[in-house]
Amino acid sequence: MESSASCPAAAAPLERPFRVLVGVTGSVAALKLPLLVSRLLDIPGLEVAVVTTERAKHFYSPQDIPVTLYSDADEWEMWKCRSDPVLHIDLRRWADLMLVAPLDANTLGKVASGICDNLLTCVIRAWDCRKPLLFCPAMNTAMWEHPITAQQVGLLRAFGYMEIPCVAKKLVCGDEGLGAMAEVGTIVDKVKEVLFWHGSSQRS
Ligand SMILES: Cc1cc2nc3c(=O)[nH]c(=O)nc-3n(C[C@H](O)[C@H](O)[C@H](O)COP(=O)(O)O)c2cc1C
Repeated sequence: MESSASCPAAAAPLERPFRVLVGVTGSVAALKLPLLVSRLLDIPGLEVAVVTTERAKHFYSPQDIPVTLYSDADEWEMWKCRSDPVLHIDLRRWADLMLVAPLDANTLGKVASGICDNLLTCVIRAWDCRKPLLFCPAMNTAMWEHPITAQQVGLLRAFGYMEIPCVAKKLVCGDEGLGAMAEVGTIVDKVKEVLFWHGSSQRS
């Protein structure tokens, strides 16, 4: 495992911090959001913000998230007249990398078909596909094994998004099998790997 000290986000920084936007959806794996954010913040040279769906809010306490946390209300409260910012567009401009962890079956389906009915899916719908987008599916094994899942994951990959595959384990619902979100360590290592390549391409 690569240590954060050797992460090229620190070795070859941009003029400003590298900005990671974490999207979180209503999977039980959203319980891990505080740990994920804290592990990302351990990477030198990283700035992190979070966009949450309403359902995801059920699984963590905002007090445990030490970065700016955006949700649907912010988008609508921010915009009153023409000169006001449109939050989902500002966020897609702001972010250098998007990490959707966990990506639940509902939002997976929306993203695959272009539906954008909340802040998170609007950011993804407007995403600049030249920037990395990583996604971590997380769902019950029965949902994972339904044939529509592979089709939808395939579409996201075809957009150029990077899948951090789910793993097999005993799920919170008691079922056992594939569908659990990748471990936080695996996700953070993948982000570091992408940062490494980003740093390399900036140098060349
Ligand atoms: C306790 C609980 C746990 C859930 N866990 C998951 C999950 O791991 N994966 C999933 O796809 N849906 C899960 N769901 C269902 C989603 O929360 C539901 O589809 C919701 O509409 C998702 O909304 P969102 O995609 O806007 O966050 C869970 C629901 C409950 C009540």
